[in-house]
Amino acid sequence: MISKHFRLTLATLTVVVLSVGCAVSENTIAYEKVNTMRGTDVNVSDAPFDAKAYQGKKPGQQQLVARTFNGQPPVIPHTLENFDEITLEDNQCVECHGLAKYKEKGAPKMADSHFINQKVAMTRWQCNTCHVPQVDAAPLVKQNFVGSAIPKL
Ligand code: HEC
Ligand code: HEC
Repeated sequence: MISKHFRLTLATLTVVVLSVGCAVSENTIAYEKVNTMRGTDVNVSDAPFDAKAYQGKKPGQQQLVARTFNGQPPVIPHTLENFDEITLEDNQCVECHGLAKYKEKGAPKMADSHFINQKVAMTRWQCNTCHVPQVDAAPLVKQNFVGSAIPKL
C-alpha cells in the first residue's frame, strides 16, 4: 500500500518536473526568434572564417591608406609577414618608425603622442593593439559608414 506521504511527494515531484519542462520549452521558443544580423542560426556555432592573407608588400612600396576620422590610428599599408613578434626588448616596428632610424628607413615617424622624453612610451609599445594590417574582406553586414572629412596630412 502506498503511503499518503509518498503520494504527496510524488505529486510535488510531478509538478516540479512539469514546470521545469515548461520553462525550458518557453526559453527555447524565445531563443529561436533571435536573428543575428549576419543571418546565421544562433543555435549553430559559427564556422571559423578562412584565414586571409594580409594585403601589401614589403614596407616602402605602397601609398598610405587615407584616414577616415580624426584620431584614427592609421592602418598599416604594408605586409607584416616575416616580422618578429613584439617582445619587451625587441620591436621591429620601432626600428623603422622610431626616432633613430625613420629617415634612413624612409618610414613615417611615429606620432609625437607616442614618445615620452624621446623614448617610446610603454603604453604605445604594443603597436598592433591600435594599428592593424589590411585584408581584402567584404563587410559581414551592410553598413553605411562614411568617414568624416579630415585634412590630408
Ligand atoms: C622595414 C621598415 C618597416 C617596418 C619593420 C615596419 N614599417 Fe610600418 N611603414 C614603413 C614604411 C616605409 C611605410 C610607408 C608605407 C609603405 O611604403 O609601406 C610604413 C607605413 C606604416 C603605417 C602607416 C602610417 C600612416 O601615416 O598612414 C603604419 C601605421 C605602420 N607602418 C605601422 C607599422 C607597425 C605597427 C609595424 C610593426 C608591426 C611596422 N609598421 C613595421 C616601414 C616599416
Ligand atoms: C594606443 C594606441 C596606439 C598605439 C599602441 C600605437 N599607436 Fe601609432 N598612432 C595612434 C594614433 C591614434 C595615431 C594618429 C596620431 C595621433 O593621434 O597621435 C598614430 C599614428 C602613428 C603613425 C603616423 C604618424 C602620425 O603623425 O600620424 C605611425 C607611423 C605610428 N602611429 C606607428 C606606431 C608604432 C610603430 C607603434 C608601436 C611602437 C604605435 N604606433 C603604437 C595610436 C597608437
